[in-house]
Amino acid sequence: MINKRMFDAVNEQIKFELESAYIYLSMVGYFHASNLDGMAHWLRVQVHEETIHAMKFFDHLTSRGASIVLLDVKQLKTTWKSALEPWQDAYAHEKFITEKIHTLTKIAREENDYTAEPLLNWFLNEQIEEENNTDKISRQVEMIGDSKEGLFMLDRELGTRIYPAGSPFDPAAYNLAP
Ligand code: FEO
Repeated sequence: MINKRMFDAVNEQIKFELESAYIYLSMVGYFHASNLDGMAHWLRVQVHEETIHAMKFFDHLTSRGASIVLLDVKQLKTTWKSALEPWQDAYAHEKFITEKIHTLTKIAREENDYTAEPLLNWFLNEQIEEENNTDKISRQVEMIGDSKEGLFMLDRELGTRIYPAGSPFDPAAYNLAP
């Protein structure tokens, strides 16, 4: 069983992870509309990763006998002014999520919740990658500046990101041939 303080914090983290998926899905729409389909693709894979993160916390709570209470998911932002701005927002958002994981870890320690440690350690490591990815892309877009050729090349590279196996977010999963 999980105590109330820890339950509330993990339950809220489900919401933060789903909000991550939601804002990245908004960015997918923005990049498609901007004809940067590779960037849209990269973020679409990220949307799937975020739902996996939400489900890891969800499953942690259910496996400890808790009843989930899903909270309202906020619409964070839906429009951007340049190809750079969404990546800067993504990096800032990942830093925000890292802070939340740190807070969860602090609460787990204060509550002597050793059972949550393996899950939180996984997320502490995952956030290194999440911040690094979005920071790197953000700085690459910044370096490219006004070069349309550079932007096109980066867009093509980001379009090669691989979906997790069997991802329902992969159009191949539902665009079934007649
Ligand atoms: Fe679930 Fe991108 O942090």
